[in-house]
Amino acid sequence: MGATAVVTEMVAAAGLSRRSVKSHRLLQYHPEEKPIGVQLFGSRPGDFEGAAEIVSELGFDFIDINAGCPVKKVVNNGSGSALLRDIPTLAAIVRAVSSHTSLPVTVKIRVGWSPEEPVPDSLPAILAEEGAAAIAVHGRYRSDMFAGEARKMEIERIVRESPVPVIANGDSRSVRNAIDLMDATGAAGLMIGRGALGNPWIFRGILSGKPENASLAAEEVVSVIWQHYGWMSDYIPAAHLYGILRGQLLHYIRGFRGAADLRARAVGVDCREDLSDILSELEKLLKLERQRKA
Ligand SMILES: Cc1cc2nc3c(=O)[nH]c(=O)nc-3n(C[C@H](O)[C@H](O)[C@H](O)COP(=O)(O)O)c2cc1C
Repeated sequence: MGATAVVTEMVAAAGLSRRSVKSHRLLQYHPEEKPIGVQLFGSRPGDFEGAAEIVSELGFDFIDINAGCPVKKVVNNGSGSALLRDIPTLAAIVRAVSSHTSLPVTVKIRVGWSPEEPVPDSLPAILAEEGAAAIAVHGRYRSDMFAGEARKMEIERIVRESPVPVIANGDSRSVRNAIDLMDATGAAGLMIGRGALGNPWIFRGILSGKPENASLAAEEVVSVIWQHYGWMSDYIPAAHLYGILRGQLLHYIRGFRGAADLRARAVGVDCREDLSDILSELEKLLKLERQRKA
């Protein structure tokens, strides 16, 4: 759909070993996902050295370091956004990865631990000095978790201080929001998380500079969901497939007349036939919606 690159979900640096790598589901990707980065998290530079060497052999295009995850279990271990309060360790981690891979290294941060503890102005230069080629910034403090609006001015501060490209992240739920975030921060790029759920077309929309969802053919929406389902079924063990698919379907089924009833059906989907019925209904409802809006 036009995304320049994608990143895996976070993988524990400490948990990677040569033995577990082949079967590690989080490290599997489809060739069409390239360019793809692998995101590592952890708290000990030594763990990252070995992890960087292992993942460098798997065909990834870059390695990203997680210094943003706000989840208690993660920060209590000194990982994720806890690293924003321990810059020497974060710097040592970036150095550990950079010196054990020939791939570009990127770092994902938040704007600080809390409004009382923003990241220092010197952080982007420190990360660059240790080998970071780019920095992605989620415009929230750890104390915000996922609440409130992304803080554009704080991202802009980091953009201003950074010697390497900064990628802005947070709340790009629509093409309009995404373009506003770029304009307000002066960032070199955008990272989209939740806005791509059920709306992978957002990347195409941003690149073209105009929202295109309204004009998407109903058939195209349905055919993308079938493709999504096909790839999910290659990747996810059968026992979990429909449970995970339901969550994805609910993201696609929203924002048109009749969506609520169809969502209620989608919650129960448990076989291919069922999915087929739901998608036929979706196509019908989307066509009606398009006619109404025309
Ligand atoms: C369910 C969920 C899982 C996430 N997992 C990760 C992750 O593994 N690594 C990461 O850097 N960020 C992760 N994030 C954070 C997103 O990358 C992003 O920074 C955040 O959601 C804000 O951007 P958005 O408003 O575009 O979603 C996750 C977010 C959500 C909602």
